Amino acid sequence: MSWKSTERLMQTIKHYSGFPATGVSLRQMVQFGERPSTGTLFRASQFLSEELPIRLAHRVQELGDLPDGLNEMPSIKKVRDWYSQSFEDITTLPRPNLDPEIKERLLRPMKQNGRESKILSQTTHNPSVKEGQYRSQQANGNGSSGTSKSPARRYYASVEDEGDWPPELNAYNKKFAKTLEGIKRRHDGVVTTVAQGINEYKRKRQRMQINNDIQSFLDRFYMSRIGIRMLIGQHIALTDQRSHNEPNYVGIICTKTNVRELAQEAIDNARFVCEDHYGMFDAPKVQLVCKPDLHFMYVPGHLSHMLFETLKNSLRAVVETHGPEKEEFPVTKVIVAEGKEDITIKISDEGGGIPRSVIPLVWTYMYTTVDTTPDLDPDFNKSDFKAPMAGFGYGLPISRLYARYFGGDLKLISMEGYGTDVYLHLNRLSSSSEPLQ
Ligand SMILES: Nc1ncnc2c1ncn2[C@@H]1O[C@H](COP(=O)(O)OP(=O)(O)OP(=O)(O)O)[C@@H](O)[C@H]1O
Ligand SMILES: [Mg+2]
Repeated sequence: MSWKSTERLMQTIKHYSGFPATGVSLRQMVQFGERPSTGTLFRASQFLSEELPIRLAHRVQELGDLPDGLNEMPSIKKVRDWYSQSFEDITTLPRPNLDPEIKERLLRPMKQNGRESKILSQTTHNPSVKEGQYRSQQANGNGSSGTSKSPARRYYASVEDEGDWPPELNAYNKKFAKTLEGIKRRHDGVVTTVAQGINEYKRKRQRMQINNDIQSFLDRFYMSRIGIRMLIGQHIALTDQRSHNEPNYVGIICTKTNVRELAQEAIDNARFVCEDHYGMFDAPKVQLVCKPDLHFMYVPGHLSHMLFETLKNSLRAVVETHGPEKEEFPVTKVIVAEGKEDITIKISDEGGGIPRSVIPLVWTYMYTTVDTTPDLDPDFNKSDFKAPMAGFGYGLPISRLYARYFGGDLKLISMEGYGTDVYLHLNRLSSSSEPLQ
């Protein structure tokens, strides 16, 4: 049976979409997750049961308001329904009836050494966000949000954990995490389904390229998706008690992400995909220059994604410029620099470069120089999915969003006729707020 939205649900969604999202920082997520007990997890569920519907509601509204008939494309409508349905799943989940005493305890801040513990550190400005570009608030531990009128909700409030919690709390936490798991799965195919929607639109409207409005819609939309999935992924991992045994991990954040190990793994994977794709025995070599013990707080999955995508691009450029039959290729270099503010990774290839006039296009979705785009498979994000060498035109723009999400950036400088340098800046201060709208 297919799901149907109702007039009433759409009204609730409209109401929620009037509230701004609350941006959280990497540091806050880690501070929150350090000791998640039943009470603290319940507080987190409460935060998410407001924050996620707000973020989902913004997307439902925006998908519905897309210009030029794009909102009418079947795949866009399908995605909009997924967002509405997930909104409904969360907002209709019954909350436990709690004694006043328990409610009061949940609000009591945790005491450390007889003092009230300092709650969350403040989020700072995200350097990749221009003034006024996003409407999000910053989730600050003290519950005030500076100049904004409505008070920011708190992402984090550690709860005093002496004594037992009633079983309803634990049951609710479990149920909430299960609901989030279902939502996460439902949205697995969003990127490809939206891409399909854009294709439907291009075909119907006879458009060759997407305009700036659609480009910035996609940037906002996918950025928001990264944020939603981060919050969901983090919450599921924290609820899963087994994950507490992993040293250095808080949810899906690794407080000691080893850059060299991850980079080497990405290099091996990209070379493997390259060999497979071109039927080569030995893919072009990649040299890695990185201190072996360099580590920082990050989400390893995000870093792997960005490295894998940029490396595939470089290897493809090298192979196609020099021809797959070539005996020896110029070596691609991956250089990792450690600064106080940023860890910067430069990927330098001699793959012939990109003409200057084309540079702006590489950041647009669906721009690719691959002739036949591989099939848009809705199971794109499933774990058994075999990564293609290239062809969607999503590699660079999505990687840049991942970089910006935690206050970093991705830049590309090219010498046409020689090669390309990609700079991946990763902000190691990790206090900057998510860029959300
Ligand atoms: N290092 C590079 N050297 C030369 N051209 C590049 C390089 N990186 C990217 N490009 C150009 O930019 C285009 C867009 O890159 P992007 O990674 O976004 O998409 P793609 O590689 O075509 O497909 P996919 O989404 O599968 O990655 C590529 O098709 C290629 O023409
Ligand atoms: Mg690519």
